[in-house]
Amino acid sequence: MTALAMDNHWLPFTPNRDFHDEPKLFSRAQGVFYYTPDGREVLDGSSGLFTTPAGHGRKEIAEAVYKQMLELDFVSSFQRSHPKAFEAAERVARLTPDGLDRIFFCNSGSEAVDTAMKIALAYHRARGQSSRTLFVSRERAYHGVGFGGVALSGLVNNRRTFGPGLPNTVHMRHTHLKDVRFVKGEPEQGADLADDLERLVQLHGAENIAACFVEPIAGSTGTLVPPKGYLKRLREICDKHGILLVFDEVITGFGRTGHAFAAQSFGVKPDVITMAKAITNGVQPMSAVAVHRRIHQTVVEESPNPKEVIEFFHGYTWSAHPAACAAAIAAIDIYERERLFERANQMSAYFLEGLFSLKDIPVVTDIRGYGMMGGVDVAPLAVPGARGHALQKKLYDNGLHIKTTGDCGVIAPPFTFATDHVDRFVDVMRKTLTAL
Ligand SMILES: Cc1ncc(COP(=O)(O)O)c(C=O)c1O
Repeated sequence: MTALAMDNHWLPFTPNRDFHDEPKLFSRAQGVFYYTPDGREVLDGSSGLFTTPAGHGRKEIAEAVYKQMLELDFVSSFQRSHPKAFEAAERVARLTPDGLDRIFFCNSGSEAVDTAMKIALAYHRARGQSSRTLFVSRERAYHGVGFGGVALSGLVNNRRTFGPGLPNTVHMRHTHLKDVRFVKGEPEQGADLADDLERLVQLHGAENIAACFVEPIAGSTGTLVPPKGYLKRLREICDKHGILLVFDEVITGFGRTGHAFAAQSFGVKPDVITMAKAITNGVQPMSAVAVHRRIHQTVVEESPNPKEVIEFFHGYTWSAHPAACAAAIAAIDIYERERLFERANQMSAYFLEGLFSLKDIPVVTDIRGYGMMGGVDVAPLAVPGARGHALQKKLYDNGLHIKTTGDCGVIAPPFTFATDHVDRFVDVMRKTLTAL
């Protein structure tokens, strides 16, 4: 690529100057592999960006999208719809926990989070509790890049340039305890951190709090697995005070934890679930908010306005885009036909064993994991994040793609990984971490 050809595209969440010096490109993908423009095979250790658990190049999805585009390429999502939108919603609703069966479609995780925030406000207003405008979130959370998501997220870099976002947001502590290292699955210690929510209620008043947003497993900041009992305790506190509990399952949704949703893996039912990424196996941009029917009932069915009046003044031009709906249906078909969530559950033990075998490497300071998700921390250099950045670049050169956030590698293999893919992943990680 010439310098000129690379001038125009401004890459997101990327140090662009460094990328221009050393472009890390993929030009093709198939199965669990990416291929560089010069034909080198790179193992996909992050399912793209948590998007592609069924592996790349799935013909059934591509064909469904192609067919849909020829049949009906676009329809206004306002005042109009199309059959596949309802079919996609029904298919998603069959996977969500009981009762969370009203589905609002959007196009990205960030939009799903903003939508969920608005639904929470609309719900409380509709039931006569309009003072509930405060949101509770958590340090080290990542809820996307809309101003709502920036406010909820507990990431300093997300706010350094853009400020705090919405003012009405407060944060609980994160659950990554200093002394709890190298724990496979849920740590025994830390459930009491959920009592931060109770303290925030005491400070701000339950009557002012709309919702508590958490990722069941904080994904982007390094696979922070919740302590045993933590999510259950959050549920109890929300119930006690009439606060909605929202699980942001943009990463954990669609089998990553061994069940369709982490809510099911951890046995805790939230009121709202946001999802994106794997909903179409990454093939089309799409996200969704699954809402408990009680909330929908309050906002929509019981609206005091005449039925000609819009009940929820919100939506996107590309909500339930026909091609995205076709992709979602085809992806869910694959997940079900190939029993991929069960496969994720079965592969988890082998994957986590391989991942945790890296703990003896001196530069590795912690490893965490659950289901088909893992986090590996490396000791930071003088500039935080520099070593993590070097790690992901070296891994690319050595034939493995993973996402890094700061000094943490976030691993999320496709569920189609076989044991020899896990072995290869571990070998490349060991070689690269050892030389780092
Ligand atoms: C939990 C969570 N919420 C929201 C988002 C934002 O999603 P998007 O990048 O599609 O806007 C992400 C992205 O990684 C995420 O992990």
